[in-house]
Amino acid sequence: MLEIGSGTGQHAVWLSERLPQLVWQPSDQPGATASIEAWRRHSGLKNLRKPLEIDLLDAATWPQASCDALVCINTVHIICWEGVKGLFDLVGRVLKPGGLLYLYGPFRYADRELEPSNEQFDLWLKQRDPNSGVRDFEAVAELASSVGLSLQGDVAMPANNRSLWWKKQGFQACSD
Ligand SMILES: C[S@@+](CC[C@H](N)C(=O)[O-])C[C@H]1O[C@@H](n2cnc3c(N)ncnc32)[C@H](O)[C@@H]1O
Repeated sequence: MLEIGSGTGQHAVWLSERLPQLVWQPSDQPGATASIEAWRRHSGLKNLRKPLEIDLLDAATWPQASCDALVCINTVHIICWEGVKGLFDLVGRVLKPGGLLYLYGPFRYADRELEPSNEQFDLWLKQRDPNSGVRDFEAVAELASSVGLSLQGDVAMPANNRSLWWKKQGFQACSD
């Protein structure tokens, strides 16, 4: 499991502890991985790897190895749109056929009003950085289609967030 934008690393610890069958690979942009490493060391978890420095805006930092799944929590509204495109380019490059992409956060849908709390959050994000903001689900879905992903789930979460997950087309050879 490759995690993009792991932040403090607390999600990586919490999730990898509860999913011991997975090898969890956290990451964040260069210079932002110290807290993840501190949490990893504190946890002592064997299935939690040292964080990688992955910048969605710099393909030279992207891993060469492939992954079975990729998770990105509370990040696509923080980074600029080029970064969101970078995320899907990365997915196109490293996610194995049959693998899953999971995104968590607020999204705007064309067929419904944005919730007032997310409208306020969007304004706050844009005041802080005009290139950030609550993303249009349809625009993100288009990027997903462009790298061969098909939507598997879209579920409401607390505080007007969504859980979205996609599967990459194709088959993975079974080794057993
Ligand atoms: C709101 S935080 C979310 C952190 C964590 N996933 C969470 O939910 O607590 C957004 C994360 O995106 C990361 N980020 C910002 N720009 C990035 C970039 N260009 N490449 C990779 N990560 C980036 C930040 O360093 C930060 O950890």
